[in-house]
Amino acid sequence: MRVVSGIQPTGDLHLGNLLGAILRWERMQHEAPCLFFLADLHSLSDHIDPAVRLANRREMAAALVASGIDTDKSILFAQSDVPAHAELCWILNGTARMGWLNRMTQWKDKAGKNREAASVALFDYPVLQAADILLYQATHVPVGEDQKQHIELTRDIAIKFNNDFDTELFTVPQPFIGGGTAARVMSLRDGTRKMSKSDPSDMSRINLTDSDDAIAQKIRKAKTDPEPLPDDPALLADRPEAKNLVGIMAAVTGRDEAALLADHAGQFGPFKAALADALVAMLHPLRDRLDELRKDEAAIDAILEKGAAKAADLAAPTLAGAYRAIGLKR
Ligand code: ADP
Ligand code: TRP
Repeated sequence: MRVVSGIQPTGDLHLGNLLGAILRWERMQHEAPCLFFLADLHSLSDHIDPAVRLANRREMAAALVASGIDTDKSILFAQSDVPAHAELCWILNGTARMGWLNRMTQWKDKAGKNREAASVALFDYPVLQAADILLYQATHVPVGEDQKQHIELTRDIAIKFNNDFDTELFTVPQPFIGGGTAARVMSLRDGTRKMSKSDPSDMSRINLTDSDDAIAQKIRKAKTDPEPLPDDPALLADRPEAKNLVGIMAAVTGRDEAALLADHAGQFGPFKAALADALVAMLHPLRDRLDELRKDEAAIDAILEKGAAKAADLAAPTLAGAYRAIGLKR
């Protein structure tokens, strides 16, 4: 088993990133060798001020360490520090098909109506993602549900490359979704939309940098419906806002929904107060660690540098194998 996952270093982390991705990364470190990286080459698909890009990279590295990524156990690095990612992406561009990429919902959503003006990087993004994964012979890729299609594409690319070049070079990876934490955290203002940093309303999400008071206020004001909380999780099915809050509580406390509802059936008020307390208990220590780490930029840079050296060593045999398979190296 080998675990690989990445996250784009764009601004603040929110509760969806934490519960859907990073806390699962933290848990997986105890089960398998893991590589986690800042997908900073992916950020070229958006226009970002270069100074902001550099700052985001440090901020996200610090946030990952603050959230429990243990750099003695796991390899933490930035994608752009390991050129093998870009090289393998180019090789896999020969395998990926336009039709496959055209079907990617993230491409369709982000390009919108004006596809002609979208960057090639945005279109090719899933091929770079496939390179990120295949370089390290990953078996498991922990991601939120929204990334499932990209992992399936990675599998298709691996299988076609292995077939086309009559090789067994690439391990075909599995998406790893759920696993005891929340696969999909929804907006606090609308239970049918996912919590996202691109939502214009800050009240829709809990940020890693929110104060304890802000967390409590956002939960108090979170949208609910007029019915009280039921005592059976099945009765949450058509109540997206209630279901979301119970799901968050389950992920944060590690308890199952039935046990939570046994304690909290009834009015939303007391449940929301308990949820705010649980969130503060989880996030306050992370925020303190992050404040500490931010003070030492050189230490963060050193962590990334060490991680990149280790990742480059692991990537080298697969990249060499890919060059051999296509006939550009002996
Ligand atoms: P955003 O939607 O805020 O732009 P990203 O796309 O940068 O977030 O996602 C980073 C990671 O966090 C990915 O693994 C993604 O699957 C996960 N993630 C993002 N939003 C959520 C959410 N609301 N619920 C669960 N996981 C999420
Ligand atoms: N596309 C992922 C996201 O937006 C980030 C990512 C890039 C990734 N490369 C990856 C995730 C490789 C897992 C594996 O969240």
